[in-house]
Amino acid sequence: MSHRMRTLTEPFKIKMVEPLRVTTEEYRNDILKKSGYNPFLLRSHDVFIDLLTDSGTGAMSDKQWGGIMTGDESYAGARSWEHLESVVKDLTSMPYILPTHQGRAAERILYGILGGKVKVFISNTHFDTTRANIEFTGATAIDIVYDVAKDPEIDLPFKGNIDLEKLQVLIKEHGRENIAAVIITVTNNSSGGQPVSMANVKGLRKICDEHNLLMVIDGCRIAENAYFVKHREPGFETKTYKEIAQEMLALGDAFIMSAKKDGLVNIGGLLTMKDEELSIKCKNLLIISEGFTTYGGLAGRDMEALAIGLEEVFDADYLHYRIRSTAYLGENLKAKGVPVVWPIGGHAVYIDAKKLYNSIPVEQYPGQALVCDLYTKGGIRCVEVGSVMFGKYDEAGKLIPAQNELVRLAIPRRVYTQSHIDYVLDVFDDILDMRKQTTGYRITYEPPFLRHFTARFEKI
Ligand code: F0G
Repeated sequence: MSHRMRTLTEPFKIKMVEPLRVTTEEYRNDILKKSGYNPFLLRSHDVFIDLLTDSGTGAMSDKQWGGIMTGDESYAGARSWEHLESVVKDLTSMPYILPTHQGRAAERILYGILGGKVKVFISNTHFDTTRANIEFTGATAIDIVYDVAKDPEIDLPFKGNIDLEKLQVLIKEHGRENIAAVIITVTNNSSGGQPVSMANVKGLRKICDEHNLLMVIDGCRIAENAYFVKHREPGFETKTYKEIAQEMLALGDAFIMSAKKDGLVNIGGLLTMKDEELSIKCKNLLIISEGFTTYGGLAGRDMEALAIGLEEVFDADYLHYRIRSTAYLGENLKAKGVPVVWPIGGHAVYIDAKKLYNSIPVEQYPGQALVCDLYTKGGIRCVEVGSVMFGKYDEAGKLIPAQNELVRLAIPRRVYTQSHIDYVLDVFDDILDMRKQTTGYRITYEPPFLRHFTARFEKI
């Protein structure tokens, strides 16, 4: 007998609730205008469904909250540190484990040591904070995700893969001595949350061995990546998600994790490595800037919750629900005729706003228009990933647009229920109805760097 399709249900029940405030469209129109049409400037109090990020926005389990109460707050050698260290050693098979307050602190420490002028870092796609930490040292960051991944529609299983042929060319061009590290980000956040295959990571390991290059895994979504490997890559069907993650992490020389994602905690980060000499340099910087080696920037209770979160995230029922509920949103948007980046990634659905709002020219930021419409129509907050975020100007002050005009709907872990997701889908019916009437935006204020956070707009 074939399995009937059943409603996708959360594999947990709710023990504590946080009220959401229902507002009117008129109110939201007014508030958004006052916020310069930039949802980053909204107060969370005015947001109904917050899909701005999946980072640090998840809900902890009863077990994790239990850990919060029993965390050991000793300065040195805390029991909670020993717990976290043993969980992370088991996961990464790396001997040197450093706790940090979040992902970018681990990046600053490692890339601060490895970087510097003339140095080059190569990645499938550097996340913004990764690139910023590298460039801050004077080094260069080069992205070489496979070209096919840049096509939002092409249906391939591992669109996060790094282009190994391009890597060989870059090694010749820059010289191995100038390459500080190769960073593989799993899943690849900046290219749509797309996964990386085990074969690609193994291929990368081989090249790094041949040229004696340091291979770093940015694995803040390592469990979500493991789900895709199990279900899309031949040979992994019978392995557990944790075994797949362990196999992948064992291939790296170092591992960086923003624990705010698959660590299932609201704050935390990790930096682990195999090389003792490098670990000593990192520990020295950690002590100066984050805290002693047995707590980094974290409280004992944070480490306890993280140790538990890193076990829970590999639960098969949890991961199935997690990946399928993101896909449910994406697949149903697609069925309604909303153009989405395909296939759907792990933590977010990306909408092709250039296509959806094809009457708005890129100079008038169709992605920002969609972000604003989703807020006014439904109280939904999300982020533009297009020319507001990545656009530059030429010498004449004309916009050089980004490659794509996307909008990211990132799903917090274990926070919203299936009916919240159905509500988001309903709001898109309004978006589809009004898409020919909606207008673009012009920027009235922008800072010199990372303008999307604080820019202000007006309606055209
Ligand atoms: N690496 C990746 C791949 C990330 O997605 C992030 C954060 C970081 C590093 C930095 O970690 O925030 O703990 O310092 N991504 C968040 C996002 C902010 O919304 O995608 P952090």
